[in-house]
Amino acid sequence: MTTPAHRVRVLFDESSIARRNEELAEAVRATQPRDLLVVAVLKGSFMFAADLLRAMHRVGLTPQVEFVHLSSYRTGTVSSGQVEILRDVQSEVRGRDVLLVDDILESGRTLVFAKDLLMARGAKRVLSAVLLEKPGKRAVTIEADFVGFTCPDVFVVGYGMDAAHAYRQLPFVGVVDFDSPDPDLFGGA
Ligand code: IMP
Ligand code: MG
Repeated sequence: MTTPAHRVRVLFDESSIARRNEELAEAVRATQPRDLLVVAVLKGSFMFAADLLRAMHRVGLTPQVEFVHLSSYRTGTVSSGQVEILRDVQSEVRGRDVLLVDDILESGRTLVFAKDLLMARGAKRVLSAVLLEKPGKRAVTIEADFVGFTCPDVFVVGYGMDAAHAYRQLPFVGVVDFDSPDPDLFGGA
């Protein structure tokens, strides 16, 4: 049995994301990072980080790559404000340029938490790249250094982002239409 699926309306398609990743990589390169450590924030950023890293390689960057798994306790689709470390970075960050990579900047709590953590451990500079930014949703003051796209105030899935662990595999970002089951995926049932 497959997981029930609903139609997903495309917001940012595959080729737009691919083009934007090349531009973001170039913007990162322009900051002339030294001894660069990319820290991808799991889980939602895994696909964005994978593509951004390959674009960074194409513009000549040679980062090391690490992961931190953060959870910002959510009830359904609403953030509660608490951030917890589920898996920490293992590399030394002292004295290094760090690029945090996350899927969405919304309240800002996740990014502030991660940035403070790495600064407290002695990073020389912590830059951040987010695929999406939802404006007007900030609970704390922070802006990302690199933003893929401005996102409307809707719950999005795909390209790594989930609704109850589903939809992460989609190669695009979209909005789930929960009122509309996908007949193809239901096999007519
Ligand atoms: P913030 O801490 O409120 O900025 O929330 C950022 C985190 O919440 C992101 O890293 C996502 O994991 C999650 N998030 C926020 N909005 C969405 C959404 O529309 N779809 C999926 N995840 C989201
Ligand atoms: Mg996340």
